[in-house]
Amino acid sequence: MSKFHGFLRHCAKAQKSVSSHGMRALSTEQAMEREYNYTAHNYKPLPVVLCKGQGIYVWDVEGKKYMDFLSGYSANNFGHCHPKIIETLQKQVTTLHHVSRAFYTDILGEYAEKVTKLFGYDKIVPMNTGVEADDTACKLSRKWGYRMKKIPKNHAKIIFCSENFWGRSLAAVSASTDPDAFEDYGPFMPGFSCVPYNDLVALEKALQDPNVCAFMVEPIQGEAGVVIPDKGYLRGVRELCTKYNVLWIADEVQTGMGRTGKRLAVDHENVKPDILVLGKALGGGVYPVSVCLANDNIMTILEPGTHGSTFGGNPLGSKVAITALQVMEEEKLAENSEKMGQIFREGLKKLKDDRVITDVRGKGLLNAITINRSVAEGWDVCLKLKENGLLAKPTHRDIIRFSPPLIITEEQIKESVDIIKRSILGLV
Ligand SMILES: Cc1ncc(COP(=O)(O)O)c(C=O)c1O
Repeated sequence: MSKFHGFLRHCAKAQKSVSSHGMRALSTEQAMEREYNYTAHNYKPLPVVLCKGQGIYVWDVEGKKYMDFLSGYSANNFGHCHPKIIETLQKQVTTLHHVSRAFYTDILGEYAEKVTKLFGYDKIVPMNTGVEADDTACKLSRKWGYRMKKIPKNHAKIIFCSENFWGRSLAAVSASTDPDAFEDYGPFMPGFSCVPYNDLVALEKALQDPNVCAFMVEPIQGEAGVVIPDKGYLRGVRELCTKYNVLWIADEVQTGMGRTGKRLAVDHENVKPDILVLGKALGGGVYPVSVCLANDNIMTILEPGTHGSTFGGNPLGSKVAITALQVMEEEKLAENSEKMGQIFREGLKKLKDDRVITDVRGKGLLNAITINRSVAEGWDVCLKLKENGLLAKPTHRDIIRFSPPLIITEEQIKESVDIIKRSILGLV
């Protein structure tokens, strides 16, 4: 048996029939095998081969339709092929797509003005992926620490939370407490340490060190399994960071852009971070766009040549981001996320009985269930969900995150709860 077939058996239930409607020449198994053979195995995808998306739905090469409850790890807040986003992308790509920041363009200023005014900051640093913008926030904080807080050279410290996730770069994994993320990637970035999440006492102790320049935190920990802090935590973070003259960086790469039922997750407590980081859905799911927002007291420390990115702030990404922000506002997606999230959780809570689903939690349309592992692994539940027409992915072995596009309707939410119910019942 080849390595791939061993892997297939491990994944279980990959469909084998050749496409009957001629949309793709490859069967599910052939497409999976090719991807498996030519890409490193740093992901373990569900055994489904997608070839089309529209709205909240995706289709596989066999023609089967699924509800997309992962949304490209929360990048597809607007669903697949949103007409306004696609129109913007198509127009801009045939007008001016990329020149670099070596020159001004007619788009970057428009985008920067829009995003700063919407979120209430003076300036942006435009980047591409979430990890780059988070890294930018760390660099800004260190520089601010030396220039403004007068921390002795090369002694600046940044505090993170246990179970944080902000990407895969060496800096990001240096901050990680997950051995899968950091093992064998050392030596690690000095000056990084972690305190427990949702623990203001531990945070205060850490911030008393005069060499701390920043505290970076996700307002809800997404990859950790949708971990929601106690009410008042974010307000407490704001107060402590102000008290100890430490910059608060809010990593809203996953929780921003309406995902949790407000434009930003920090809006649930009406607090404002010193540095706000956005990514994922900011690019409309079609182009990598991320951003670091802050006021001039921080931003003016960046001088020409001290930071940058080849693609960051290019006309294509900027124009797409303008439209993504417009669509979020016009279609009231944060409000819809709040409303649909409530209905979704109410439905899921009726299924919670400790036999299979032991916990249901979330805010807006960032939700998760915990599965009783004596009955099934998260992976098995996701296979069942797939069979029944809904795609989701486990995060850790017993948690399944549900993050559908924010354009989802009440009818579709109710249908999704039915699918989850049927899938769960199929396990006991
Ligand atoms: C909170 C958070 N920050 C940063 C990132 C990294 O984003 P990217 O994969 O675009 O680098 C992620 C990705 O899941 C995330 O959830």
